[in-house]
Amino acid sequence: MPAEATQPATVPEQLERQLRETQAALEQARAELQQRERLALAGQIVMGIGHELREPLSVISNLVYCLRLACGEREAAPGTAVTLQRYLDCIEEQVLEADRVITGLLEYARTYEVRRQAVDLNGVVEGRAGTLRLPNNIRLAKQLTPGLPAALADPLHVERVLHNLTVNAIESMRADGGELRLATFSTGEAVVLEVADTGPGIPPELADKVFDPMFSTRPAGMGLGLALCRQLVEANQGSIGFRSTPGCGAAFRVSFSLAAG
Ligand SMILES: Nc1ncnc2c1ncn2[C@@H]1O[C@H](COP(=O)(O)OP(=O)(O)OP(=O)(O)O)[C@@H](O)[C@H]1O
Ligand SMILES: [Mg+2]
Repeated sequence: MPAEATQPATVPEQLERQLRETQAALEQARAELQQRERLALAGQIVMGIGHELREPLSVISNLVYCLRLACGEREAAPGTAVTLQRYLDCIEEQVLEADRVITGLLEYARTYEVRRQAVDLNGVVEGRAGTLRLPNNIRLAKQLTPGLPAALADPLHVERVLHNLTVNAIESMRADGGELRLATFSTGEAVVLEVADTGPGIPPELADKVFDPMFSTRPAGMGLGLALCRQLVEANQGSIGFRSTPGCGAAFRVSFSLAAG
Protein backbone atom coordinates (compact mmCIF):
# COMPACT_ATOMS: atom_id res chain seq x y z
CA MET A 1 0.00 0.00 0.00
CA PRO A 2 1.36 3.47 -0.81
CA ALA A 3 2.21 5.54 2.29
CA GLU A 4 -0.31 8.27 2.98
CA ALA A 5 1.10 11.72 2.27
CA THR A 6 1.05 13.98 5.36
CA GLN A 7 -0.98 17.06 4.61
CA PRO A 8 0.32 20.36 6.07
CA ALA A 9 -1.96 21.61 8.89
CA THR A 10 -4.56 24.09 7.70
CA VAL A 11 -4.90 27.48 9.41
CA PRO A 12 -7.98 26.42 11.45
CA GLU A 13 -6.14 23.27 12.56
CA GLN A 14 -3.11 25.31 13.63
CA LEU A 15 -5.35 27.71 15.52
CA GLU A 16 -7.13 24.83 17.21
CA ARG A 17 -3.81 23.32 18.30
CA GLN A 18 -2.61 26.66 19.64
CA LEU A 19 -5.87 27.09 21.50
CA ARG A 20 -5.52 23.62 23.07
CA GLU A 21 -1.93 24.38 24.11
CA THR A 22 -2.95 27.73 25.62
CA GLN A 23 -5.81 26.05 27.49
CA ALA A 24 -3.43 23.39 28.87
CA ALA A 25 -0.93 26.09 29.97
CA LEU A 26 -3.75 28.06 31.62
CA GLU A 27 -5.00 24.96 33.44
CA GLN A 28 -1.49 24.26 34.73
CA ALA A 29 -1.04 27.88 35.89
CA ARG A 30 -4.40 27.70 37.70
CA ALA A 31 -3.41 24.45 39.46
CA GLU A 32 -0.06 25.98 40.52
CA LEU A 33 -1.79 29.08 41.84
CA GLN A 34 -4.21 26.96 43.85
CA GLN A 35 -1.32 24.96 45.29
CA ARG A 36 0.49 28.18 46.26
CA GLU A 37 -2.68 29.53 47.90
CA ARG A 38 -3.00 26.29 49.87
CA LEU A 39 0.60 26.54 51.09
CA ALA A 40 0.06 30.16 52.12
CA LEU A 41 -3.08 29.09 54.01
CA ALA A 42 -1.19 26.26 55.70
CA GLY A 43 1.45 28.80 56.81
CA GLN A 44 -1.23 31.05 58.32
CA ILE A 45 -2.77 28.07 60.09
CA VAL A 46 0.55 26.99 61.60
CA MET A 47 1.11 30.54 62.90
CA GLY A 48 -2.42 30.45 64.28
CA ILE A 49 -1.77 27.19 66.12
CA GLY A 50 1.29 28.69 67.77
CA HIS A 51 -0.62 31.78 68.81
CA GLU A 52 -3.78 30.03 70.00
CA LEU A 53 -2.07 27.24 71.91
CA ARG A 54 0.56 29.39 73.56
CA GLU A 55 -2.06 31.04 75.76
CA PRO A 56 -3.65 27.95 77.36
CA LEU A 57 -0.22 26.35 77.70
CA SER A 58 1.21 29.34 79.53
CA VAL A 59 -1.82 29.33 81.88
CA ILE A 60 -1.19 25.63 82.51
CA SER A 61 2.46 26.21 83.38
CA ASN A 62 1.54 29.08 85.75
CA LEU A 63 -0.99 26.84 87.46
CA VAL A 64 1.58 24.07 87.88
CA TYR A 65 3.86 26.64 89.52
CA CYS A 66 1.02 27.66 91.87
CA LEU A 67 0.30 23.99 92.66
CA ARG A 68 3.94 23.45 93.60
CA LEU A 69 3.76 26.40 95.98
CA ALA A 70 0.44 25.25 97.42
CA CYS A 71 1.75 21.69 97.95
CA GLY A 72 4.77 23.07 99.81
CA GLU A 73 2.40 25.01 102.10
CA ARG A 74 0.05 22.06 102.67
CA GLU A 75 0.89 21.59 106.34
CA ALA A 76 0.69 25.31 107.16
CA ALA A 77 -2.49 26.39 105.35
CA PRO A 78 -5.77 24.66 106.31
CA GLY A 79 -7.71 25.98 103.25
CA THR A 80 -5.19 24.56 100.78
CA ALA A 81 -7.30 21.56 99.73
CA VAL A 82 -9.89 23.93 98.25
CA THR A 83 -7.18 25.98 96.52
CA LEU A 84 -5.67 22.83 95.03
CA GLN A 85 -9.08 21.79 93.74
CA ARG A 86 -9.51 25.18 92.08
CA TYR A 87 -6.09 24.96 90.41
CA LEU A 88 -6.86 21.48 89.13
CA ASP A 89 -10.19 22.70 87.68
CA CYS A 90 -8.35 25.54 85.91
CA ILE A 91 -5.76 23.13 84.49
CA GLU A 92 -8.53 20.88 83.17
CA GLU A 93 -10.28 23.88 81.57
CA GLN A 94 -7.10 25.01 79.81
CA VAL A 95 -6.34 21.51 78.54
CA LEU A 96 -9.88 21.38 77.09
CA GLU A 97 -9.29 24.79 75.49
CA ALA A 98 -6.06 23.59 73.87
CA ASP A 99 -7.89 20.48 72.68
CA ARG A 100 -10.69 22.60 71.18
CA VAL A 101 -8.13 24.60 69.20
CA ILE A 102 -6.52 21.42 67.86
CA THR A 103 -9.89 19.90 66.92
CA GLY A 104 -10.90 23.07 65.03
CA LEU A 105 -7.61 23.19 63.14
CA LEU A 106 -7.72 19.52 62.25
CA GLU A 107 -11.25 19.89 60.96
CA TYR A 108 -10.19 22.83 58.82
CA ALA A 109 -7.08 21.12 57.46
CA ARG A 110 -8.75 17.78 56.68
CA THR A 111 -9.21 17.02 53.00
CA TYR A 112 -12.89 16.72 52.47
CA GLU A 113 -14.54 14.08 50.43
CA VAL A 114 -17.42 15.72 48.60
CA ARG A 115 -20.55 13.65 47.95
CA ARG A 116 -22.92 15.90 46.08
CA GLN A 117 -26.51 14.80 45.85
CA ALA A 118 -30.00 16.34 45.80
CA VAL A 119 -30.51 18.11 49.14
CA ASP A 120 -33.68 19.64 50.50
CA LEU A 121 -32.41 22.87 52.11
CA ASN A 122 -35.75 23.34 53.92
CA GLY A 123 -35.22 19.96 55.59
CA VAL A 124 -31.68 20.90 56.65
CA VAL A 125 -32.95 24.18 58.15
CA GLU A 126 -35.78 22.38 60.00
CA GLY A 127 -33.26 19.88 61.34
CA ARG A 128 -30.98 22.63 62.63
CA ALA A 129 -33.90 24.64 64.05
CA GLY A 130 -34.96 21.54 66.01
CA THR A 131 -31.61 21.28 67.80
CA LEU A 132 -30.96 25.01 68.33
CA ARG A 133 -30.73 26.14 71.92
CA LEU A 134 -31.35 29.85 71.73
CA PRO A 135 -30.71 32.20 74.63
CA ASN A 136 -33.96 33.76 75.95
CA ASN A 137 -33.23 37.13 74.32
CA ILE A 138 -33.01 35.68 70.76
CA ARG A 139 -36.08 34.76 68.65
CA LEU A 140 -36.08 32.49 65.63
CA ALA A 141 -37.91 33.44 62.41
CA LYS A 142 -38.08 31.00 59.47
CA GLN A 143 -39.01 31.92 55.92
CA LEU A 144 -38.78 28.68 53.98
CA THR A 145 -40.05 28.71 50.41
CA PRO A 146 -42.54 25.86 49.92
CA GLY A 147 -41.75 23.50 47.04
CA LEU A 148 -38.12 24.66 46.94
CA PRO A 149 -36.13 22.81 44.24
CA ALA A 150 -33.38 20.51 45.55
CA ALA A 151 -29.82 21.82 45.77
CA LEU A 152 -26.81 19.87 44.49
CA ALA A 153 -24.50 19.59 47.51
CA ASP A 154 -23.11 17.28 50.16
CA PRO A 155 -25.79 17.29 52.89
CA LEU A 156 -23.20 16.95 55.69
CA HIS A 157 -21.38 20.01 54.38
CA VAL A 158 -24.60 22.03 54.16
CA GLU A 159 -25.34 21.13 57.80
CA ARG A 160 -21.83 22.14 58.87
CA VAL A 161 -22.09 25.48 57.05
CA LEU A 162 -25.52 26.20 58.53
CA HIS A 163 -24.21 25.27 61.98
CA ASN A 164 -21.26 27.71 61.77
CA LEU A 165 -23.36 30.55 60.37
CA THR A 166 -26.05 30.18 63.03
CA VAL A 167 -23.42 30.03 65.81
CA ASN A 168 -21.92 33.29 64.50
CA ALA A 169 -25.34 34.93 64.24
CA ILE A 170 -26.22 33.90 67.81
CA GLU A 171 -22.83 35.07 69.13
CA SER A 172 -23.32 38.46 67.49
CA MET A 173 -26.63 38.93 69.35
CA ARG A 174 -25.70 37.26 72.66
CA ALA A 175 -25.31 40.53 74.57
CA ASP A 176 -28.27 42.54 73.29
CA GLY A 177 -30.61 39.89 71.89
CA GLY A 178 -32.40 40.06 68.55
CA GLU A 179 -33.78 37.88 65.77
CA LEU A 180 -32.17 34.98 63.97
CA ARG A 181 -33.70 34.60 60.49
CA LEU A 182 -33.33 31.47 58.45
CA ALA A 183 -34.61 31.67 54.88
CA THR A 184 -34.51 29.61 51.70
CA PHE A 185 -35.42 30.58 48.16
CA SER A 186 -34.60 29.84 44.56
CA THR A 187 -33.35 32.27 41.93
CA GLY A 188 -34.21 29.92 39.07
CA GLU A 189 -30.52 29.05 38.55
CA ALA A 190 -29.51 28.48 42.16
CA VAL A 191 -30.99 27.51 45.51
CA VAL A 192 -30.12 29.88 48.33
CA LEU A 193 -29.87 29.54 52.09
CA GLU A 194 -29.80 32.75 54.11
CA VAL A 195 -28.79 33.17 57.75
CA ALA A 196 -29.43 36.70 59.00
CA ASP A 197 -29.21 38.38 62.38
CA THR A 198 -30.03 41.76 63.90
CA GLY A 199 -26.69 42.09 65.72
CA PRO A 200 -24.08 44.82 65.30
CA GLY A 201 -23.19 43.75 61.75
CA ILE A 202 -19.77 43.67 60.13
CA PRO A 203 -17.90 46.96 59.64
CA PRO A 204 -16.94 47.58 55.97
CA GLU A 205 -13.21 47.60 56.84
CA LEU A 206 -13.49 43.95 58.03
CA ALA A 207 -15.48 42.75 55.02
CA ASP A 208 -12.38 41.38 53.25
CA LYS A 209 -11.02 39.70 56.36
CA VAL A 210 -13.86 37.72 57.89
CA PHE A 211 -13.35 34.68 55.63
CA ASP A 212 -9.58 34.57 56.34
CA PRO A 213 -8.50 31.65 58.51
CA MET A 214 -7.56 32.75 62.04
CA PHE A 215 -9.32 36.10 61.74
CA SER A 216 -11.53 36.69 64.77
CA THR A 217 -12.77 39.60 66.83
CA ARG A 218 -14.23 37.32 69.51
CA PRO A 219 -12.33 36.66 72.72
CA ALA A 220 -12.88 32.90 72.50
CA GLY A 221 -13.02 32.74 68.69
CA MET A 222 -10.49 30.91 66.58
CA GLY A 223 -11.49 32.52 63.30
CA LEU A 224 -12.06 29.23 61.53
CA GLY A 225 -15.86 29.12 61.22
CA LEU A 226 -16.24 31.26 58.10
CA ALA A 227 -13.00 30.01 56.52
CA LEU A 228 -14.36 26.48 56.88
CA CYS A 229 -17.75 27.56 55.47
CA ARG A 230 -16.09 29.02 52.39
CA GLN A 231 -13.89 25.97 51.91
CA LEU A 232 -16.90 23.63 52.13
CA VAL A 233 -19.18 25.74 49.94
CA GLU A 234 -16.53 26.08 47.24
CA ALA A 235 -15.77 22.35 47.38
CA ASN A 236 -19.47 21.94 46.51
CA GLN A 237 -19.14 24.45 43.66
CA GLY A 238 -21.38 26.89 45.48
CA SER A 239 -20.77 30.45 46.59
CA ILE A 240 -21.00 32.32 49.87
CA GLY A 241 -21.16 36.02 50.64
CA PHE A 242 -22.82 38.50 52.99
CA ARG A 243 -24.51 41.86 53.20
CA SER A 244 -24.27 43.95 56.32
CA THR A 245 -25.31 47.37 57.48
CA PRO A 246 -23.31 48.18 60.60
CA GLY A 247 -25.71 48.46 63.52
CA CYS A 248 -28.42 46.54 61.68
CA GLY A 249 -27.04 43.02 61.47
CA ALA A 250 -25.55 40.76 58.85
CA ALA A 251 -27.08 38.34 56.33
CA PHE A 252 -24.98 35.49 54.95
CA ARG A 253 -26.12 33.85 51.71
CA VAL A 254 -25.02 30.46 50.48
CA SER A 255 -25.95 29.43 46.93
CA PHE A 256 -25.79 25.98 45.38
CA SER A 257 -26.70 24.89 41.89
CA LEU A 258 -30.00 23.12 41.31
CA ALA A 259 -29.95 19.34 41.37
CA ALA A 260 -31.01 17.91 38.02
CA GLY A 261 -34.53 16.56 37.64
N1 LIG B 1 -23.08 37.32 62.08
C1 LIG B 1 -22.00 38.06 62.35
N2 LIG B 1 -22.12 39.31 62.86
C2 LIG B 1 -21.04 40.08 63.12
N3 LIG B 1 -19.75 39.68 62.92
C3 LIG B 1 -19.58 38.44 62.42
C4 LIG B 1 -20.66 37.57 62.11
N4 LIG B 1 -20.15 36.41 61.63
C5 LIG B 1 -18.81 36.54 61.64
N5 LIG B 1 -18.47 37.76 62.12
C6 LIG B 1 -17.10 38.30 62.26
O1 LIG B 1 -16.21 37.46 61.52
C7 LIG B 1 -15.20 36.93 62.38
C8 LIG B 1 -14.79 35.56 61.86
O2 LIG B 1 -15.86 34.63 62.04
P1 LIG B 1 -15.50 33.08 62.18
O3 LIG B 1 -16.76 32.33 62.32
O4 LIG B 1 -14.58 32.71 61.07
O5 LIG B 1 -14.63 33.03 63.50
P2 LIG B 1 -15.09 33.17 65.03
O6 LIG B 1 -16.59 33.07 65.13
O7 LIG B 1 -14.47 34.42 65.56
O8 LIG B 1 -14.38 31.90 65.70
P3 LIG B 1 -14.76 30.34 65.47
O9 LIG B 1 -13.54 29.72 64.90
O10 LIG B 1 -15.11 29.84 66.84
O11 LIG B 1 -15.92 30.27 64.50
C9 LIG B 1 -15.82 36.96 63.76
O12 LIG B 1 -14.84 36.98 64.80
C10 LIG B 1 -16.60 38.27 63.69
O13 LIG B 1 -15.75 39.39 63.85
MG1 LIG C 1 -17.57 31.45 64.17
